[in-house]
Amino acid sequence: MQETMNIVTVGHVDHGKSTVIGRLLADSHSLPEGKLDAVRENCRRNSKPFEYAFLLDALKNEQAQGITIDTARCFFHTEKRHYIILDAPGHIEFLKNMVTGASRADAALLVIDAARGVEENTRRHGYFLSMLGIRQVAVLVNKMDLVDYSEAVFRDIRREYERFLAKIDIRPQAFLPVSGFAGDNIAVHSAQMPWYRGLTVLEQLDAFTATAPPHHLPLRMLVQGVYKFTANEDHRRIVAGQVETGELAAGDALIFLPSGKKTTVKTLERFPQTTQQSFGAGEAAGFTMQEQIYVKRGEVACRENDPLPQVGVRLRCNLFWLGKRRLQTGRTYLLKCGTAKVEMNLEKVERVVNASDLSCFDRQYVERNEVAECVLSLEHPIAFELPGGADCLNRFVIVDDYEISGGGIITEGLAAYDYDTRNIRWSGSGVSAEMRERMLGHRGLVVWMTGLSGSGKSTIAELVERRLIEQGISCYVLDGDKLRRGVNADLGFSDADRSENIRRTAEIARLFQDAGLVTLVTLISPFRSSRAEARRISRGPFLEVYVRAELETCIKRDPKQLYKKALAGNLRSFTGIDSGYEAPENPDLLLDTEKWSEEECAEALFSTILRQIAD
Ligand code: ADX
Repeated sequence: MQETMNIVTVGHVDHGKSTVIGRLLADSHSLPEGKLDAVRENCRRNSKPFEYAFLLDALKNEQAQGITIDTARCFFHTEKRHYIILDAPGHIEFLKNMVTGASRADAALLVIDAARGVEENTRRHGYFLSMLGIRQVAVLVNKMDLVDYSEAVFRDIRREYERFLAKIDIRPQAFLPVSGFAGDNIAVHSAQMPWYRGLTVLEQLDAFTATAPPHHLPLRMLVQGVYKFTANEDHRRIVAGQVETGELAAGDALIFLPSGKKTTVKTLERFPQTTQQSFGAGEAAGFTMQEQIYVKRGEVACRENDPLPQVGVRLRCNLFWLGKRRLQTGRTYLLKCGTAKVEMNLEKVERVVNASDLSCFDRQYVERNEVAECVLSLEHPIAFELPGGADCLNRFVIVDDYEISGGGIITEGLAAYDYDTRNIRWSGSGVSAEMRERMLGHRGLVVWMTGLSGSGKSTIAELVERRLIEQGISCYVLDGDKLRRGVNADLGFSDADRSENIRRTAEIARLFQDAGLVTLVTLISPFRSSRAEARRISRGPFLEVYVRAELETCIKRDPKQLYKKALAGNLRSFTGIDSGYEAPENPDLLLDTEKWSEEECAEALFSTILRQIAD
C-alpha cells in the first residue's frame, strides 16, 4: 500500500490558502477531467473573475478519480505518495480538529501574504503548531506577484518569521516564495523569481518525511463499549472500540488501562462478520475475551508486553481556551481524552502565554482565546501519553457546560499526590488538608495489609493501632472480617466479589485517610490488579504491606478452623486452597511472620508509619 501523509494548511483567511490548494490540485493534474473548464465557464457566465479558490468549493463532496473534497479535506497524490490536505477555515477550527482527533497532521504548510507580512495571527498559528507538536513545517510566502516578486520582501519576511519560530522550537524546512494566483513555484518553478533555487510546493511535500506508520506502533484500542450477546444463551461479551495504533489479533494478552485488568483476546468480532486475522490502525474492532473481566468505555486496551501509557490523576498540560466563561479554579469541568470522560478541576495556572508575542503573565485563570500551561487534577485516573506517543491519548478537550471550551496536549504526568499543591475536592466544607494536619499533628495514610487468611494481618494491625494511639496518632483498622459483616455483607468470595470488596474498602480507606487518619486495612486482597486499583483509588500516600506466612503455617495456625473446613471440601473458593493468592512482587514493606514474631513485625510497621506521616 502506498504511504499516505496528512498535511495541514494554516494561515490567515485572507492570505490565500485556498488559492494555493486549488492551484496545487490543478497544476498537479489531480482534478477530474473538465473540472477546471467547468469552473471557468461558470465564472464567465456569472461575470466574475475565475479564482483557483473556487475549485475547492466546486469539488466539495464530490468523488471522482480518487479525489474527494469536503470542507476540510482534499485528497491527491504524487508518484511518491498520497496526500490528504486538511484545511480549517480559522485557527479555532484548526485547533478543535486537531485536539478532538478529527484530524492528524504529519506536516504543515503555513501560508503568509507577502504584501501584509507577518501578522499577529501568523505568529499565533506558528505557536499552535508548536504546541501540537507538529515540527515539520514549510512556510509559503504567497502573493509574490503583488510585491513584484521582490527577493528583498521575501527575505525580510523570512528573517522576521524565522526568528519568531526559533523561540518556539520550530525550524522550518523551507521558506518558499509562491503565488497561488499566478502559479509560481506551486507545481512548476517560477520564471519570475530566478533568484529562488529551492523546491516547488509539490516537491516540498514529497520532501517531508513520513512518520512511522501507525500499525508499527504499540497497540492502543480505545474502548467504546462492551456489548452482550443476548440471543441463544450466548453469554459472551464483546469489547468494541477503535484501534488507533498497532494491531490486534486473537491470542493477544491485553491489559486495560487505567483499571489494570488483564485478559486474552479470544476471537475477533465484527458486524457483519469478518474472517480477518487482525484489526489494524484506524479500524473499528470488536473482540471476545478468554477471561471475562469487567471493563467499560474509557479504557484503553494495550498489549501487555508493549510499552504502556501512563496512568494518572494530575497532569501538566499546554492548553488553549475558547470558552465563553474563563477557565478557573474551583469549578468542575469534564475532560475527554480518548474515550475517557472524567470530571476535572483546574489546579493551577503555571503561566498564561500570549501566543502572538510570547509574553507570559502570572494569574490563576485563563480567558477566552488564551494559551496557558496548567496543572489539571482529575476525579478519576485516566490513561494518557506524552507528546511522541499516540496522539489520541496525548490530546484532550475540556467541556464546560456541554460545550467544547478548550483543549490541548499533556506534557507531563505528575505524582498522584503532592502535599504542597494537592487540591482535595472531598473537603467541600472548605477545610483544607493542611488545617486537618495542623489539628491532628500528622497526615493521613493508607496502610494496605495483604496476606493469606491466618498470616497475622489483624493481630499485627491491632498491635500497631495500639502503639499509634498511645503516641497520640489518630488511626483506625478497617478489618476485612468486620467489614464483611456490615458494609460488604452482600459479598461472597468469587473473584468479582473480592474485587468489589476491595474497591469499596479502598474508597472507605480513602475517606478516612482524607480525614487525617492512619488507616490500616487488613484484607486478604489476593489479586495484584485489585491491590493496584486500591492504590489508585486511595490517590494519597499508600503503603502496601505484605504479611507473609507459608500456607502450611496458616493451615497449622488455623485460628478460625476455616482451613480445616476448606480442606474437607466444606468451604468453597478458600484462598490458598481452591482460590489463588498473588503475592506482592514489590511490596513497600515485607513482614515475614516466618522469621519474625508478631511484636517484631508490629514494631517494624510502626516505625515505617511514623516515618511516612512525619516527612
Ligand atoms: S478478600 O477476598 O476480600 O481479600 P477478606 O479479607 O475480605 O477477603 O475476607 C477474608 C476473611 O473471610 C478470612 O479471613 C476468613 O475469615 C473469611 N472467609 C470466609 N470464607 C472465605 C473464603 N472462601 N476465602 C477466604 N476467606 C474466607
